[in-house]
Amino acid sequence: MKADLIAQLQGLEEEGTVAVQEAPPESLEGLRVELLGRKGRLTGILRHVVQLAPEDRPVVGAEANRVKQALSELLDARAAEAGPAEALGPLEDLTLPGRRRWRGGLHPVTQTVNEICDIFRDLGFSRVSGPEAETLDYNFTKLNIPLDHPAADMHDTFFLNEGVVLRTHTSPVQARTMERCAPPVRVVVPGMCYRRDAWDASHAPAFEQIEGLAVDEGISFVDFRATIDEFVRRFFGPATRTRFRPSYFPFTEPSAEVDVSCQICGGSGCSACKGTGWMEIMGAGMVHPKVFANVGYDPERYTGFAFGMGPARITMLRHRIPDIRLLYENDMRFLEQFA
Ligand code: PHE
Repeated sequence: MKADLIAQLQGLEEEGTVAVQEAPPESLEGLRVELLGRKGRLTGILRHVVQLAPEDRPVVGAEANRVKQALSELLDARAAEAGPAEALGPLEDLTLPGRRRWRGGLHPVTQTVNEICDIFRDLGFSRVSGPEAETLDYNFTKLNIPLDHPAADMHDTFFLNEGVVLRTHTSPVQARTMERCAPPVRVVVPGMCYRRDAWDASHAPAFEQIEGLAVDEGISFVDFRATIDEFVRRFFGPATRTRFRPSYFPFTEPSAEVDVSCQICGGSGCSACKGTGWMEIMGAGMVHPKVFANVGYDPERYTGFAFGMGPARITMLRHRIPDIRLLYENDMRFLEQFA
């Protein structure tokens, strides 16, 4: 019995050696399983060890280990010479999940623009657009900004030619919309604007704005406040408070700047709001009668409100992004976080 098993082991060694030497690289792993695997031929022989006299078992066991080691080394050597792919054999697990790929996503500012426009859609505002190359007339004059007025300087303007500029705000689309449509009008206008500002932590020479305009008979400052309050609660959350500060724009009267309670500290004052507890989100006001007259609306009959906000700034407030340049550098490591 003992001699028989040893002969079988040696037979396996001989046969296995030839088989391993002749096997094509891609069948080496199969051969390893067949010879040395849990249900392989070596295991098959060793199953009889229990029938041996106890003193014979270590002898057969030692011979089995020798054969196993010899064949295993031979298999490793063949796999190594077959090249890296085959050498990796046991690690090549085809059931492993693949590496995750970047599938793309909307830019964080685009996400903000879409959310804001969606909220205003629910409040009855349609989404429209206008040209980025704009005439001086629409960019300034129709909005009651005389060209020699300091308000025109306030916007450091890029000129394309004598009468055409890159729009410095989305407000010209107020005039374009009113010339095109009879009241009532309720629109939001997202789009790029351009100013000759140097890049710094809070300025970009090209940036998004969202304009809003509502005109009808009988629209009052109360409607204006209620609409903005509702927007703020929906966008920033129900606990957010709103504050209107008097301001000045040539195309609105009265004008206001709208602040929301600081999104970081909730209003108690922190470094993000410079201790004030408030963050500015938009310029706004009641449409100036002269603007109505300029676009052919009867200022005696119609009233309305308008606002303009910067979705990049709002994105910064929301995600606590410290520098506006991060939004325009298109570094995937940054953008991926908002996918
Ligand atoms: N157009 C103004 C700006 O660029 C914002 C604004 C829009 C103010 C509408 C009032 C009404 O700063």
